[in-house]
Amino acid sequence: MDLHNYIKERCELVESRLKHAMPAETEFPVSLHSAMRYSTFAGGKRIRPVMMIAACEAVGGDINTVLPAACAMEMVHTYSLIHDDLPAMDNDDFRRGMATNHKVYGEAVAILSGDALLTLAFILLSSPFLASNIPPERLLEVIHEISSAAGSRGMVGGQVVDMEAEGKSDLDIATVQYIHTHKTGALIKASVKCGAILGGAEERDLASIVRYGEAIGLAFQIADDILDIEGSSAELGKSAGSDQHRGKATYPSVVGLAESKRQAAELLNIALEAIDSFGKEAAPLREIARYVIERKS
Ligand code: IPE
Ligand code: IPE
Ligand code: MG
Ligand code: MG
Ligand code: MG
Repeated sequence: MDLHNYIKERCELVESRLKHAMPAETEFPVSLHSAMRYSTFAGGKRIRPVMMIAACEAVGGDINTVLPAACAMEMVHTYSLIHDDLPAMDNDDFRRGMATNHKVYGEAVAILSGDALLTLAFILLSSPFLASNIPPERLLEVIHEISSAAGSRGMVGGQVVDMEAEGKSDLDIATVQYIHTHKTGALIKASVKCGAILGGAEERDLASIVRYGEAIGLAFQIADDILDIEGSSAELGKSAGSDQHRGKATYPSVVGLAESKRQAAELLNIALEAIDSFGKEAAPLREIARYVIERKS
């Protein structure tokens, strides 16, 4: 299958839906709405929305039922990046090939544009129009999944442990695994889980998709750690070498580069095995899983 075209087509759908779902940058307060759009349309890979769509399609669902939730997930992810780059956190100057949000709009507006993106995701998910097109109990489940994945037992929890682990030399793999499965894995797992829920998956298929999402979510962050060492800032669109510079808890720093690559490959196999019983409808999910550990950006 042609993953490139698959991703391109779905990205375009996400892109145009996102443009409609977000306030115009001319709307008052202009600084806030410009900042929200600046980071959202800075050229992210859109891997989470694409995975949500792919999971929905893998269980036979319709792309239109999943698009708003896919956009909501990208808003939550973009908010997490804006805050992750702040001086109080990773203090990074480049993101998605451009200056970071706080470098352009200042820290206060960057913090608030992140807050507003997180909130907008749930405005979108709870909009009356959506509830009239999607069974409300499915929508409620999706809201619960996305908010849980974003919160203290998910992404935010992972970010806190990531901060507290900075500069420590005696980290064990369990701590780094906690960081990675939470700061990054939670939103990726929620993406595929919500795609499957909205696609009307049966219990057994939903459980398989969740196992896939857990494995790929962790693999995604291990690959991110590896790219921080082996990639270039130009390829990544963000500053390479940032992790070592800040003494971050990464897989390579705890188990080495070769073992990190081995574990990423093992997680790919676990993910593929989890959806082994699916037919050709799951081809995009399989290709995305391979892409996640082979990607260069
Ligand atoms: C970067 O995510 C942050 C991590 C969780 C590793 P992506 O690599 O998906 O970043 P974008 O969305 O393409 O910019
Ligand atoms: C990002 O982890 C996790 C979140 C943004 C929630 P990183 O700090 O490793 O991501 P990059 O490398 O800055 O994209
Ligand atoms: Mg970080
Ligand atoms: Mg960072
Ligand atoms: Mg990183």
